[in-house]
Amino acid sequence: MSTEPIIEVIHLKKSFGKNQVMTNFNLTVVRGENVVVLGRSGCGKSVLIKCIVGLLPYDEGSIRIFGKEICTLPKQELDQLRARIGFVFQSSALYDSMTVGENLEFPLIRHQKDKSKSEIQRMVQETLANVGLAHAINLMPAELSGGMRKRIGLARALVLKPEIILYDEPTTGLDPITAKEISQLMLQLQRTYNTTSIIISHDMNCSRLTANRMCVMIDGINHAEGTFESLSTSLDTKVNSFFEQTQA
Ligand SMILES: Nc1ncnc2c1ncn2[C@@H]1O[C@H](COP(=O)(O)OP(=O)(O)OP(=O)(O)O)[C@@H](O)[C@H]1O
Ligand SMILES: [Mg+2]
Repeated sequence: MSTEPIIEVIHLKKSFGKNQVMTNFNLTVVRGENVVVLGRSGCGKSVLIKCIVGLLPYDEGSIRIFGKEICTLPKQELDQLRARIGFVFQSSALYDSMTVGENLEFPLIRHQKDKSKSEIQRMVQETLANVGLAHAINLMPAELSGGMRKRIGLARALVLKPEIILYDEPTTGLDPITAKEISQLMLQLQRTYNTTSIIISHDMNCSRLTANRMCVMIDGINHAEGTFESLSTSLDTKVNSFFEQTQA
């Protein structure tokens, strides 16, 4: 694996009023790597990736993507950078008034203005086929099951062929078989396109399958880092307790 850092989070601080979420968070992800972030509910995992993608401002520290400090980038450059990052939201965040096909066209029309209508159609169909939902193109989000919504959320993040994919709980709420299929799809994307990813997940099967490395966020810092095996056998109970469900 390359050692080229793609995402660098350095001494990150982020508060909401008196609520100090990130106190001094550090994490580097290299090209082609999948890093899973573990942490208790409410500890700041979603906030972390929202800061990385530029959806939330941070207070102190720095975030560099492809070597560029994002908080000082001019808006146009930030927009170009965002087009290289796919974000799979915890809630799928589909536009309810648009069909599945239109949901996927949206980022293409915005970021790839040179593409013809038929090219856009082709890219949408190809991406839907990749997540096994080619037949859902004309459905409305309300007509989708939870698992389908997750897949469409994933497809929408993939349609621009991003170099970075940030996954916020991609398998939560899915049955174990669908969750495994999604995890395998994530792994396949990493292998085919050499994508770099941060994956937020409580799903230990997904983590075991997809993680090259894992980190545990506690009290706003990167408390421990290592492979699935090393963290699951850690002597630190704050760390190994996350893995209890897999050891039973
Ligand atoms: N936009 C916001 N305004 C104010 N507080 C926020 C905002 N977003 C998140 N927070 C707070 O930041 C903290 C971390 O939230 P976050 O959503 O990152 O948790 P999480 O680790 O992703 O939890 P979960 O596993 O439940 O998804 C919480 O205390 C939350 O209330
Ligand atoms: Mg979250």
